[in-house]
Amino acid sequence: MSVVTLHINDEIVSARSDQKLLEVIREQGIEIPTLCHMDGISELGGCRLCLVEVKGSNRLLAACVTPVQEGMSVYTHSERLVNYRHITMELLLSERNHTCAVCVMNGHCELQYEAAELGVDHVRYEYMTPDLPIDASHSKFTLDHNRCILCMRCVRVCDEVEGAHTLDVMGRGTNSRIITALNRPWGDSISCTKCGKCVQVCPTGALFEKGSSVGEMEKRHAFLSWILNGRERKEWHW
Ligand code: FES
Repeated sequence: MSVVTLHINDEIVSARSDQKLLEVIREQGIEIPTLCHMDGISELGGCRLCLVEVKGSNRLLAACVTPVQEGMSVYTHSERLVNYRHITMELLLSERNHTCAVCVMNGHCELQYEAAELGVDHVRYEYMTPDLPIDASHSKFTLDHNRCILCMRCVRVCDEVEGAHTLDVMGRGTNSRIITALNRPWGDSISCTKCGKCVQVCPTGALFEKGSSVGEMEKRHAFLSWILNGRERKEWHW
C-alpha cells in the first residue's frame, strides 16, 4: 500500500492507495449524503447520492465505490452535483410510498434526514404509488416493501455480518424486491437468527420491529446517531 496525493475541492490531500473517495472526503470533514453506504459492510454504489465530479471526466462517480488515484482532482459540491443529488432524492421519494406522517420511523429515518439536508421539500415527478405487499409473517419483524429504497444494507449485513443469508434481492428495475428465505414468507425462514441487524440498518421504515414502536424508535434513534457520527439532526416531517 502506498500514499497518493489528490485534490479535494482544490485542497491538497494525502490518502492511502486502498481508500475510497468517500472515506477520504469525510476525513477532511466534508459531508456528502449517503444512503446505501454503511461502515463495516461492502459497498454497493446503488443510491447515487454520494456522486462527485472528477476533473477531466464527464461522468459523475459514486464516491463510496471509487478508489483514490494519484493526481485526481475531485469536487464534492458543484452546482451540477447539488442538482443531481436533488433529482436523485426526488426519484427515490417518488418510486415508493414515503408518507412520513403514517410511518413508524417518522423523525428517525435516514431517507427523511437526507431529504431535509438536501432541501427537498417537494417532488416534481409523478408518484408511482405502488401497492406492494407487507410481509408480517415473522414473529418479531415486519417487511414493508412500500418503504424500501433497495439500498440492500439489510441483505449485506445479513450475509456479511450475521452470516445467515436469509435476505436477498430479486427482479430488476422497479420490479426489484427484497426477498426472504428464497422468496418464501419471512416467518417460514429456518436461516433467520432473529438478530434484528437488518432492522437496525434499514434507513427507512421498510423494516421494523413488531409491537414496540417506541422502543424500536429509541433504538433506531441511537443507531442513527451513531451512523451520522455526531452530525446535527434536523427534525423533519414530510
Ligand atoms: Fe454511494 Fe449510495 S452511498 S452510491
